[in-house]
Amino acid sequence: MGAIEERALIESAWKSAQQAYAPYSRFQVGAALATSGGKVYTGCNVENASYGLTICAERTAAFKAVSEGERDFELLAICVPGGAPPCGACRQVLHEFTPGLLIVTVDEQKSVTGKHRLSELLPVAFNTTSLDI
Ligand code: THU
Repeated sequence: MGAIEERALIESAWKSAQQAYAPYSRFQVGAALATSGGKVYTGCNVENASYGLTICAERTAAFKAVSEGERDFELLAICVPGGAPPCGACRQVLHEFTPGLLIVTVDEQKSVTGKHRLSELLPVAFNTTSLDI
């Protein structure tokens, strides 16, 4: 994926962050997940008065993509306050489909704060082979 496409994905993640439903944390996150075939699925965090039911932006995007038949991903852009890295739950969910996924994080100003392979962020993951006992 080229620099221009990466920039476009970051823009989509930023736009998705504006859709975040985060009245409790006020922490608005947006994600844009590009498939190997060039499609883009976006997501934002959606909170709930029953706090534990909250879903992160990254998992919203991943579940949207998988529910549309997409399982092979190329790049994930995340727009998050302070440019923080994705949480452990989202790493695990994404790992199920693309362990080598490239993840770029940006802050509210769209400045890149990190660029990592998922395999770097979640080494020694629990995966489908872990079930082969
Ligand atoms: N959140 C995300 O959307 N992605 C992450 O990777 C970390 C946290 C959301 C969940 C919650 O709505 C808010 O940010 C504060 O934790």
